[in-house]
Amino acid sequence: MLFDDRPKIQRRDLFNRERELQQFLQALKTATPLTLILGMRRLGKTSLMLVGLNESKMPYLVVDARSLPIRYSWRDLYKSLETSLNEFLNRHKRVSTRIREFLGSLRGVEFEVSTKGIRVLLSWGRQERPSLSALLEALNDWAESEGKNLVIALDEAQYLRGPLSLEITRAIAYACDHCRNLLFVLTGSEVGLLHDFIGIEDPEAPLYGRVSMEIRLEKFSKHLSRQFLVAGFKEAGITPSQEFLEEAVTKLNGVVGWLTKLGARCMKYGYADRKLIGLVLEEASGLVVLELQHFLETRPLEARRRYITVLKAVAADKASWSSIKRSLEEEEAKSISDSVFYNLLESLLKASILAKSDDHYVFTDPITAHAVTKL
Ligand SMILES: Nc1ncnc2c1ncn2[C@@H]1O[C@H](COP(=O)(O)OP(=O)(O)O)[C@@H](O)[C@H]1O
Ligand SMILES: [Mg+2]
Repeated sequence: MLFDDRPKIQRRDLFNRERELQQFLQALKTATPLTLILGMRRLGKTSLMLVGLNESKMPYLVVDARSLPIRYSWRDLYKSLETSLNEFLNRHKRVSTRIREFLGSLRGVEFEVSTKGIRVLLSWGRQERPSLSALLEALNDWAESEGKNLVIALDEAQYLRGPLSLEITRAIAYACDHCRNLLFVLTGSEVGLLHDFIGIEDPEAPLYGRVSMEIRLEKFSKHLSRQFLVAGFKEAGITPSQEFLEEAVTKLNGVVGWLTKLGARCMKYGYADRKLIGLVLEEASGLVVLELQHFLETRPLEARRRYITVLKAVAADKASWSSIKRSLEEEEAKSISDSVFYNLLESLLKASILAKSDDHYVFTDPITAHAVTKL
């Protein structure tokens, strides 16, 4: 169903990503060690990844890095790995005893066996925890013994940035060299994942030069957005008006996640009314506000105020370096140094809230312009 708003898992529900899916399947088939799926939020990275993994019929393990707190600890990381491993064991009940044989020999790895199946329990204390590379090696040995490749997917991997980031990228680099039966797939944003976490421009970074395949997801064009809505409404047995389609396509700006949300709303009510577009815009900007607050939360008060002023300037179309800076200086009634201002913009770029287009700064998700009015 096109308008199901969970990430898609089946090829027939994935609209117009044939080329990208083909690229991804080819990367898996040819045992590409490190593949990236890049794109801003809600363009269907998780959907493409899950559809591809299911189609490939390879065993896979997914870590959802978004579930980690910003300054995550070893405990947070290992709890998240534990969840992924258990979800993996659950999906592969038939071979879970075998997987246990390989992981069970590591220090800090225990198992709980019950009528529900096998559950892994990890230690995270400095002395007790299994190292990341030991865990990866054990998984590799299992995959090798099965004559298969195991895919390790790190969804929204830029959320792994932080104090443990180097340990993780080192472990992945190690596995790329030594674990021939492991394939890594990382999803995330261009700036956060590629530039920051991977370090595409930093020869010292462990994953520098190791990315072997990049798949980029773009927004839908107006034409495709309209086709998507028409196909989805047909499936749902609803006939929208031309005005409705026109307004939806213009306001939701080619972001498939928002288009899907609108479709899901219309299905719930059983009709396609323009009021629902407003409702989805409200809901969408509510979500974006939460994400912006998440970004602002960790900043000192003064910086927080400055970010908000910068965002409001961009929303008001004052999008060049100098016009944004002027807005900020006017707000504070003082001159601000170029380096301080540069850092503000850099952080917003790194968090993929802003992007640079020619000499201008734009919101990666146009809904943000609406959302910042609520800050
Ligand atoms: N190609 C597609 N066809 C149909 N629905 C899609 C497609 N890509 C994404 N979606 C829908 O859009 C929303 C966001 O997708 P998701 O895969 O979670 O994006 P991301 O991981 O990039 O944030 C979900 O509701 C999903 O079902
Ligand atoms: Mg996702």
